[in-house]
Amino acid sequence: MVSTSTNPNTEAKKRAFDLMLTFVKSQCTYTAARLGIFDLLDDRGEQTVEDLAQATNTDIERLYFILRALAHVEVLTEKPGRIFAPTETSTLLVTNKDPSVGHLLMHLIEPAQWDAWKVLPEALEKGVVPFELANKKGVYQYCYDNEWSKDTFIKAMSFLTNSQVDGLLDAYDFGQYETVMDVGGGQGGLIANIVKRYGCKGVLFDLPDVADTAREYMASIGVDPGAIAIKTGDVFEKIPKGAQAIVMKHFISAWSDEDALKILANCKAALPQDGRLILLQSFVPDLDEPKTEADGIMPGIFAVQINVATPGGGWRTKKQFQELFAKSGFKLEKTVKTSNSLSIMEFKLN
Ligand SMILES: C[S@@+](CC[C@H](N)C(=O)[O-])C[C@H]1O[C@@H](n2cnc3c(N)ncnc32)[C@H](O)[C@@H]1O
Repeated sequence: MVSTSTNPNTEAKKRAFDLMLTFVKSQCTYTAARLGIFDLLDDRGEQTVEDLAQATNTDIERLYFILRALAHVEVLTEKPGRIFAPTETSTLLVTNKDPSVGHLLMHLIEPAQWDAWKVLPEALEKGVVPFELANKKGVYQYCYDNEWSKDTFIKAMSFLTNSQVDGLLDAYDFGQYETVMDVGGGQGGLIANIVKRYGCKGVLFDLPDVADTAREYMASIGVDPGAIAIKTGDVFEKIPKGAQAIVMKHFISAWSDEDALKILANCKAALPQDGRLILLQSFVPDLDEPKTEADGIMPGIFAVQINVATPGGGWRTKKQFQELFAKSGFKLEKTVKTSNSLSIMEFKLN
């Protein structure tokens, strides 16, 4: 029988308290990132709370509560005299330099996302997308309509790509294709790396909203404009032809099965008969599989976030992806695990 003891030190009770207050940790970290506290500490080294409040134009005493809490969870270090110093974690959260986990955190916790969580019970009852119920538009449209959200979203996606790309390119030979197209490739970090490492030609396909950012990004990293064509459009209408392989990284997981089948039909129409569809994805573990990946990601938890924000079924299990693709006439050729939470599934046309 499960113990009903009220002893405050039981593991179950500690876990319940942690679950109750985990949002406070997220909000404190988000607020510090958004105010630029991690950037300031990284640029200037340790600072008093007074210095940080002055630099961020915030209330000293209220800011102190947040910084002290962040020190208690080892995101910052507090020294006597209300002095705060950066840590390895706060350095990872810096957002005034390269795309970082700080951008991903700010994207996932920005107010519009938070609003989606507030209406979650109602969205479940109505069977609708929480983000859309709360914000009256889809998450991509929301981001592209708001400058800060767009910049943060694009950097968040770039961070994810940058942190996984080496493991991915080591695990799969893209050099076997003359042209590879990244569908839903954002600003193009993945396709730029594929082209750079394997010397093939690339196509970046995404919504028109990201085309300018992609062009600027490609120029900034010195990609030969002749090597990657930037094409824009809507996957639900048409995907351009011309590539032997289509890659989709964390893209199909944003959509429901019904939507995914439409996208897969358009992939099929775009590919030659001997073409390949390459799914790059974290999989939700089956019941008997470990719940946490080597890089610390828990796909089952991440999947909820995707499910709250997008129309999708979220991340699926390997078997679910395989079945979904089979319904569209794609046969699984092989599955390759990379050194991080990303796996590769290569499909050919039946
Ligand atoms: C979750 S992001 C993934 C970006 C990238 N694949 C990665 O892993 O970093 C989804 C991408 O799909 C694009 N997208 C969303 N709806 C689309 C549509 N209907 N047609 C084409 N691209 C779309 C978004 O603009 C965004 O860049």
